Amino acid sequence: MRSDFGCLAVVNCGELVTLAGPARPRVRDELRNLSIVANGAMLVRDGRIEAIGDPGDIKPRITTEYEVLDAAGRVVLPGFVDAHTHTVFAGTRVDEFELRASGASYQQIAEAGGGIRSTVAKTRAASDQELLEAARRYEKWFLRNGTTTLEAKSGYGLSLEHELKILKVIQELEYVPTFLGAHEIPDEYRGRTDDYVDSITEEMLPAVAKQRLAEYCDVFCEPGIFDIAASRKILDCARRLRFKLRMHADQLSRSGAAELAGEMRTVTADHLEQIDEHGIEALAAGDVQPVLLPASVYCLGLSRFAPARKMIEAGLAVVLATDFNPGSSPTPSMPFVLSLASTHMRMTPAEAIAAATINAAYSLNRGHEIGSLEPGKRADFVVYDCRDYREIAYFAGTEMTRSVVRGGELVYERA
Ligand code: NIG
Ligand code: FE
Repeated sequence: MRSDFGCLAVVNCGELVTLAGPARPRVRDELRNLSIVANGAMLVRDGRIEAIGDPGDIKPRITTEYEVLDAAGRVVLPGFVDAHTHTVFAGTRVDEFELRASGASYQQIAEAGGGIRSTVAKTRAASDQELLEAARRYEKWFLRNGTTTLEAKSGYGLSLEHELKILKVIQELEYVPTFLGAHEIPDEYRGRTDDYVDSITEEMLPAVAKQRLAEYCDVFCEPGIFDIAASRKILDCARRLRFKLRMHADQLSRSGAAELAGEMRTVTADHLEQIDEHGIEALAAGDVQPVLLPASVYCLGLSRFAPARKMIEAGLAVVLATDFNPGSSPTPSMPFVLSLASTHMRMTPAEAIAAATINAAYSLNRGHEIGSLEPGKRADFVVYDCRDYREIAYFAGTEMTRSVVRGGELVYERA
């Protein structure tokens, strides 16, 4: 098959899972309605969806200018939108993985100088070319797991020079860029958190804004790292510089980070494993989308997952993402995240898919462009080797992607 289609007709999709619906994130029962067309077909022209629906409507429009992709009864889904990753870093942390297997906790390792700071040391020592090469390797993993759009955070540089280096790699990869200078206190600022916060607000954020290297600003809001006051100061400054806001909130402890997200009306609050009812109310009042990251809970060997059901009942537009990073979540697999969402957070496969596609797209301000298969949207879709979309979450740890198309171009095909 050619890799770059001018005009493409996708036919015989046993289940064409479109997620067509209102032009906004899905909430409550809407999350269970995936707008599936049985035996559906789709026309693609110049990278965009031209028409989609029943074969009776689509097939008569297939002329000789169309290349035909026969899905042979398989499931077709929009590409996943991974709205929370830390995918630009050097090295691994397999040594810490082994220490954790022997009983050390994530926090103990971090306090002993490991954790994020050990990846910062390696990332600072790496050239932009080395970082790009590592990230290109992970890019292939994302694609072969059906992810066609990624958000990526900086945060392993923690100085102007190295944060800019990472953001330029993110720009090269064409991922949705987020500045996360407030990810950890670097060694040279140990015990001087206020000075580091000043360097973020006075030096880094203005430079990143001037060079237009990030759309979003994120903060790891956690007691002892960036507390509520420090997080508020950074987010306030970022907003004045016209960044949109995301937050790592209530991940390791319950600190009121969700309330800060609600008060500041950040676009998202991410993690939220420790959130309570007050926090959920605050997110609802501030129209904040929760981004749930169950793979980071699983990979740390923990068992407290975010209360997804309570959030859905409260009308929140939940998102699922991988949190791909070398410490807490070394997985690029959205199908694995869907499996965790169903087995540990009691989200149905349909809810999980809506959270990982259309809702994720809206959380990145791209809901008009991606996240569902509707006329005019980018032709980002995946053919899976199954007959029922629920199998993607059900057959845990199984690679079911067969063909991945992004912008009308075949970017991965299983041999
Ligand atoms: O989202 N919590 C902070 N950041 C990451 C972990 C990053 C790392 O361990 O390198 C997270 O889990
Ligand atoms: Fe994260």
